[in-house]
Amino acid sequence: MPNSLIDLRDWPSSEIKKLIDLSFSIEKESTKVSKSSKLVGLLFFESSTRTRISFEVACSRENHQSFLVSTAAGTSMEKGESLRDTLDNILAMNPDLIVIRSNQDFDQKDYFQNLKIPVISAGWGQLSHPTQALLDIRSLIKNGLAIEQIKLVIIGDIKHSRVAHSHLALSEKLGYQVAVLGSDSMMSNDSFKRLHSMEEAFEWGNVLMALRYQKERHDSSTQDYDYEKFQITKKKLEQWPSEGFLMHPGPINYGVEITEDTRDYKKNLILSQAESGVWIRRAALRYLLKDLT
Ligand code: CP
Repeated sequence: MPNSLIDLRDWPSSEIKKLIDLSFSIEKESTKVSKSSKLVGLLFFESSTRTRISFEVACSRENHQSFLVSTAAGTSMEKGESLRDTLDNILAMNPDLIVIRSNQDFDQKDYFQNLKIPVISAGWGQLSHPTQALLDIRSLIKNGLAIEQIKLVIIGDIKHSRVAHSHLALSEKLGYQVAVLGSDSMMSNDSFKRLHSMEEAFEWGNVLMALRYQKERHDSSTQDYDYEKFQITKKKLEQWPSEGFLMHPGPINYGVEITEDTRDYKKNLILSQAESGVWIRRAALRYLLKDLT
């Protein structure tokens, strides 16, 4: 049984399925089960709306106490203290579990694997965002797709996307299919199946997921990308014969990767993803705190 949720490649598929199943059983609970309260550190060194707040909601609903670091502002990192020292000092205060988001390159696996408490990655650099990939798949199951039916096309800034990288890992564990679409400059070196046009995406896929162009991670070597060619619009969706699902992990830059008129597309799952985030994060807390009785 894994002790932390940092990299989905470390999780056996049977345990990933158990965690997704647990999120559905929690949703069905009619009465609140009394649980021992734990202390959860929510350490968000990078801004976040969905992940941070859904972990806060998950802690409340699971009857755990939490403390929050919401960006480095107000911490001594503003005075030059390193992330490593900040973590060492917070861990010395003995939380029962920490959730961490950071965009710093810091060898999380080496550091976290020696800790005695569970750690959940809430998004790390460009590498991974495991609970996001899990909640995306949960939303698709909730809306009627069996895992083996899923053919997910991820569109846009693949190179800088922790979500795309976690889907690559999760798809290998669960057996769904993933392809990517975007300009050459937005592709990563990973082993994704690549599509080359929206038409091909409509033909191959039953789920489209737009990604934000993560300009904060682009540098002077980032070449122009033809975002309009890959932009998801209502007009383009009307040309999708099988009328599949539309997703976006958020935050969305309307008018760039996707247009406002897609809000009322009938198979738009974007808010369902936000809701699934709470169930998956409650399940992750229960699983890792071994609070399964
Ligand atoms: N999807 C996601 O991680 O959103 P936030 O950055 O708002 O948490």
